[in-house]
Amino acid sequence: MNSKIWLSSPHMGGNELKYIHEAFDQNWVAPLGPNVDGFEKDLARFLGENVNVAALSAGTAALHLALIILGVKQDDEVLCQSFTFSASANPITYVGAKPVFIDSEPDTWNMCPEALEEAIKDRTAKGKKPKAIIVVHLYGMPAKMDEIMAVSEKYGIPVIEDAAEALGSAYKGQKCGTFGDLSVLSFNGNKIITTSGGGALVCRNLEHKNKAVFLSTQARDNAPHYQHSEIGYNYRMSNISAGIGRGQMEVLNDRIAARRKNHEFYTELFRNIEGVTVFTEPGADFYSNHWLSAVIIDPVTAGFTREDLRLKFLEDDIESRPLWKPMHLQPVFADAPYYGKKVAEELFENGLCLPSGSNLTDEDRERIGRVVESLA
Ligand SMILES: Cc1ncc(COP(=O)(O)O)c(C=O)c1O
Repeated sequence: MNSKIWLSSPHMGGNELKYIHEAFDQNWVAPLGPNVDGFEKDLARFLGENVNVAALSAGTAALHLALIILGVKQDDEVLCQSFTFSASANPITYVGAKPVFIDSEPDTWNMCPEALEEAIKDRTAKGKKPKAIIVVHLYGMPAKMDEIMAVSEKYGIPVIEDAAEALGSAYKGQKCGTFGDLSVLSFNGNKIITTSGGGALVCRNLEHKNKAVFLSTQARDNAPHYQHSEIGYNYRMSNISAGIGRGQMEVLNDRIAARRKNHEFYTELFRNIEGVTVFTEPGADFYSNHWLSAVIIDPVTAGFTREDLRLKFLEDDIESRPLWKPMHLQPVFADAPYYGKKVAEELFENGLCLPSGSNLTDEDRERIGRVVESLA
């Protein structure tokens, strides 16, 4: 019996336990300590651009704090990429604001700069200038950041960069997670590196980092007793989780190389299968960590649908997943405005994410290859 091949599973490097043991030895079993400081420094060093990093309990928490720090409030509107995981959009509702969804463009599958500008003009004409833009680098593919940042600057609307899936990706040589006014990383179990659960807010200035740390540790005023002038949250990363993160940072470059190798494998595997397109960087400006490799299947040309392939994989206990269902099609966001055409909808219709873990073995790849060949 073959073992299950996962879409993306945790892949420890070996030194994670060393950092956890240190935390136990020093009794830093708390949401603060040397691993938290060390992990933040490791991330800042990796990202460059003099960023300041706050390690948090989740990427979702980082998005929530980003909205608070940018001053987004009840009944404000926030422009958000529709083609994403729900965690990009949910925090908009945590602050009582309303999401306005923006379609993708076909090159990177990320936010379409034209649809973004159209939405800003229309919302402003309707009397509500949006308060923030949430752009995502889906599956690790960098969005068209020059164009997005130009729109942001033209209209004076800050950008929250959801780089949850894109640690190690770069656009024009600059690391994803360093473009936004505030940026978000995730270390959930399925991400390129994991802390079992966790996230980070990447800040351009120390003031924002300090604010994130303050809010994530219950917003305690500077007093010997417990004094609070603001609502706080329990969002700080634990020193144990951060220990896993420090170990994972030691192998991040290997993990990126392994995921990119998976992408090469799929490019080769589908090269001669008509009607199947492997999601690939649109040009030299884009460097994807290829967190998840994905394909678009044209059923007429290929002679099979993405569902045929998914079910065929399932028969052999191989996990694959349809691409994200756009947020403007989700029942929970049925009332939210949407700007764009049908790019994200068509991607969802015909796209499939393929097993992409950095721990895939040659035998796993052979098994995957056999399933594809049996269908094509
Ligand atoms: C695009 C995107 N944004 C946000 C998140 C939320 O991160 P977390 O699971 O760490 O809360 C995730 C992943 O889970 C994600 O894929």
